[in-house]
Amino acid sequence: MSDARPKIWVSQPLFDDIVARLDEYFDVAATPDISDHAPEAIAAALRDADGALVTLNDRIGAAEIAGATRLRAIANVGVGYNNLDVAALHARGIVVANTPDVLTETTADFGFALMLAAARRITEAEHWLRAGHWQGWGFHKMLGAEVHGSTLGILGMGRIGQGIARRAAGFGMRVLYHNRSRLPEAVERECRARYVDRDALLAQSDHLVLVLPYVPANHHLIDAAALAAMKPTATLTNIARGGLVDEDALADALQSGRLAAAGLDVFEGEPVVNPRLLACRNVVLTPHIASGSLPTRRAMVALAVDNLVAALGYGPNAGKPPSAIAPK
Ligand code: DGY
Repeated sequence: MSDARPKIWVSQPLFDDIVARLDEYFDVAATPDISDHAPEAIAAALRDADGALVTLNDRIGAAEIAGATRLRAIANVGVGYNNLDVAALHARGIVVANTPDVLTETTADFGFALMLAAARRITEAEHWLRAGHWQGWGFHKMLGAEVHGSTLGILGMGRIGQGIARRAAGFGMRVLYHNRSRLPEAVERECRARYVDRDALLAQSDHLVLVLPYVPANHHLIDAAALAAMKPTATLTNIARGGLVDEDALADALQSGRLAAAGLDVFEGEPVVNPRLLACRNVVLTPHIASGSLPTRRAMVALAVDNLVAALGYGPNAGKPPSAIAPK
């Protein structure tokens, strides 16, 4: 048996001081920038690797791992893992892990902020002011929607959705949610949230926030029909994945006044943003930064490193990665 140290591929610069923990056990090869995440480049990087630390920039499925005969573990730096074909990786016996929990509160903060910004037209007002349009205080200027006392709808009531619901209590909001399965009563009580079906959620929400995982069955879940079912005064906030929303239908709704405003942190063709959305004044656009506080991004990398070390049989959790995704 060879006594060579296992090889790790790190797909982009993360935090050097945290990634350096891998050096104790492994030989690490890191891609110095995020410019090349083409399938062939990923396949080449994985070919000799025993493990990989990757992000949502890396789409990895059967084709990318076909030549990666030594690959035993992939640690995704992110809670969402729709960039990975988990079934294909599990079928090859590869351990897959993500980074839940450490980003919950930070992401909930951002989701709430984006909803507030859309409702109160904060970026639209700032752009207008910076463009030199402000001639004097205007009584009717930039009138937005009410947040306090309004109805918040949460589609996807996992950890982050629950975090947003807890924040809504401070604003005196009525909270409705829809989820694959209803939460235990104690959690509903703690979140002061009421389960409703999807139609009722769309019809009754003043502010709808998407926090559900993207899976093919959810593709364009918010389409023209769903948008038409919402109040014309409502806002839509998406901090989950871009593919949940039909962006052309959303642009139609925003342009026609069928929907008051939107806050989007995620996009179907990231980093390319649908030009029709870029042209809408009533949408707040941010570049997928909901989990982006410094402590949280560091915590995500630390958890991913722990996952990788443990999945490859080293360190205090050897064989028991803290957040491995269970095979179905
Ligand atoms: C995630 O963790 O899934 C975010 O979208 C990226 O931080």
